[in-house]
Formats: sequence, structure tokens, C-alpha cells
Amino acid sequence: MKSLFTFLMLLVTQFLWAQNPANLKVFLKDVLAFPLGASINPRLLDDNMNYRERAGSEFNSLTAENHMKMVNIHPAADRFDFEKGDELVRFAQNRNMRVHGHTLVWHNQVATWMKDFKGDTQAWEMMLKNHIQTVVTHYQGKIAGWDVVNESFLDDGTLRPSIWADHIPDYIAKSFIWAHEADPKAILFYNDYGQDGKPKKMQAILNMVQDFKMRNIPIDGLGLQMHISVQSSNEAMEEVVRKSAATGLKIHFSELDVAVNPKNNPEFVYDDTAKDEQLSKYLCVFKAFQEVPVAQQYGITTWNVGDGDSWLRGYFKRPKEYPLLFDEAYRPKSAYRILMQSLKKYEK
Ligand code: XIL
Repeated sequence: MKSLFTFLMLLVTQFLWAQNPANLKVFLKDVLAFPLGASINPRLLDDNMNYRERAGSEFNSLTAENHMKMVNIHPAADRFDFEKGDELVRFAQNRNMRVHGHTLVWHNQVATWMKDFKGDTQAWEMMLKNHIQTVVTHYQGKIAGWDVVNESFLDDGTLRPSIWADHIPDYIAKSFIWAHEADPKAILFYNDYGQDGKPKKMQAILNMVQDFKMRNIPIDGLGLQMHISVQSSNEAMEEVVRKSAATGLKIHFSELDVAVNPKNNPEFVYDDTAKDEQLSKYLCVFKAFQEVPVAQQYGITTWNVGDGDSWLRGYFKRPKEYPLLFDEAYRPKSAYRILMQSLKKYEK
């Protein structure tokens, strides 16, 4: 009898609790039919409770902003440092978030010892293979997909010169093969930026995919970084998405941010007009993603959480930039709310 009373009281309490709209929080991720991610910085997770709270509640996918890149994860020829990457993986696992790996091979944020590496083609291949396979094996079963190779093509469609391109013939294909050997279940992406308005770059990527299919090179997805601005052309962006999706590969908008002050005007004011322009760009990007066939939708990842954390402020030193869905205090911006109202699950 007593336990029935307790049970009923519990029900009543729960009912009353649910009547308060503040307690029934619906997140943007809940109305989307695909994962919503953010790139995350472990230092901010440790130092800033608001950041930690938002990162853990608003997203169901996580990318390491910097800590799985060569310079951090492989600081010396004979030493890997998985500490921060592991911390991010634990954070994600505790919250049922997917982890996306970024990035195995890139021309930037390369370890100094790699730049100084001396050896013949075979030695270079062994070095890169060992890097890829040690990292992928370490995270096997914990990381759903990897950006295997990042930003290999220039705007004119030629291969970007880099230590990898200079020393390892066919390094992109080889990287995919090595990653696949280490974790056959991982979804393997080629990731790049700025294909919109750069038809030669776009074509180079499509040619690579076609060539890989012919040679049975295990590529599963294309990452479109989507570092765009309010001035980016919707049509050009939509065309890139259409062409990329036509490959049949999975599509990840992997590093989305929408700059409102791309020329870094020091007098810039983030007023209602700027906010509206940004909102329509965000809507257009999310709608373009919804046009991708459902089976190919890997997700949308924004490049960090709040405006104050954006690389446009830190790396590019553009203090008057507001590119994300949360403000400096991690309050959802109006774009967030309108996106939530406009995008419903499985709606086309
Ligand atoms: C950026 C990070 O956001 C910065 O913190 C870092 O200083 C430089 O790299 N394309 C990519 C990302 O693939 O890895 C880059 O991230 C942004 C551009």
C-alpha cells in the first residue's frame, strides 16, 4: 500500500514537472533526422562549465577540433599522445555521442619531426602508414568515421604540394587503404573546403572518387567543410552538395560556420539585418543537407560551440565575428530557434 502511494506520488510529481515548459527542453538535435555535431576543445571542456554543458547536451556527434591532428597526437617519431583525444572520446561515450575522427593526413599541423623526416619513398610510406594505423587502431570501435585525408587539392584542381604529395606517390589512395586495414568498419572520408565557385577543385575531387571506385580504394564519404559566409552563393553551395551526393558516398557538412563579417570590418555591428542574413544562410545549408538521400546523410558538424570559441576569432583574429548557433554566453541565438521550428524530422 505504502509503495503504491509512493509510486503515485512519483507519477504526480513527474506530471507536474513536465507541465513546466522549461523542463521539457527540446534541442535542435531532436528535430533533425541526422546527427548534429560540434568540434570540441578539451581545454574549454575543463575550464568552462557552460561550454561543457552545451557541448554535452546540444550535440550527438563530436569532432576533436585539434587534438587528433598529427602535431598533437604524434609529437615525436616514437611517441603518440592520446591523452586529450581519449578525454574527448570518454566525454562523448558518457553522453552517447558519436565520435568523428579528424584528421589522419593533412599538410597543416604536421609534427616538426615529420617535416624533418629523411628517407626514401619506402621509408616515407612506412612512416605515414605507421601513423595512420596506430591512430586508427587505438580508436577502433570508438570512432565511427575518419577524415582520412584533408584538403589535398588546390583551387585549380591540381594536387596541393605537401610533404606527403612530395614524397609518397598516390598518397591519398594509400592512406585510405591503410586506414581501412586498421579498422574495416570505420567510415572513411575525404574532407575539403571551398568547392563552391571553384569548379576545378570540385571536379578534381569527383575525379578522385571515380578513380577510387574503379580501383576499389575504400572511400565511403565526402566531408564538405562549409566554412561559408553570408556572402556565399546559395546556388554554388547547393550545386556542390548535389554533385557530391551524386557520387553515392556519405555526405558530412564537417566544419560548418557562417561568417557575418568576412572582411573583418572593425566597426561591424551584429545587428538584426546581419542576424537575418545569417539565419537564411543557415536555413539554406540545413535544407541542402536534407536534400541528400537519407542513407547518405552522415550529419552536420559546426566548427565549435559558441561564437567566442570560433577559430575565426582565435586563429584568424577576427574579434567581430559571430559565426555559430550559440553566443559567447552559450545562449542559443535566434537562428537556432528558427532552424528548430523550420526543420522537422524526415521532412523534405
Ligand atoms: C583549425 C582549428 O579550428 C584551429 O584551432 C587551429 O588553430 C587550426 O585549425 N580546416 C580544417 C580544420 O580541416 O582542422 C581547421 O581547424 C579549420 C580549417
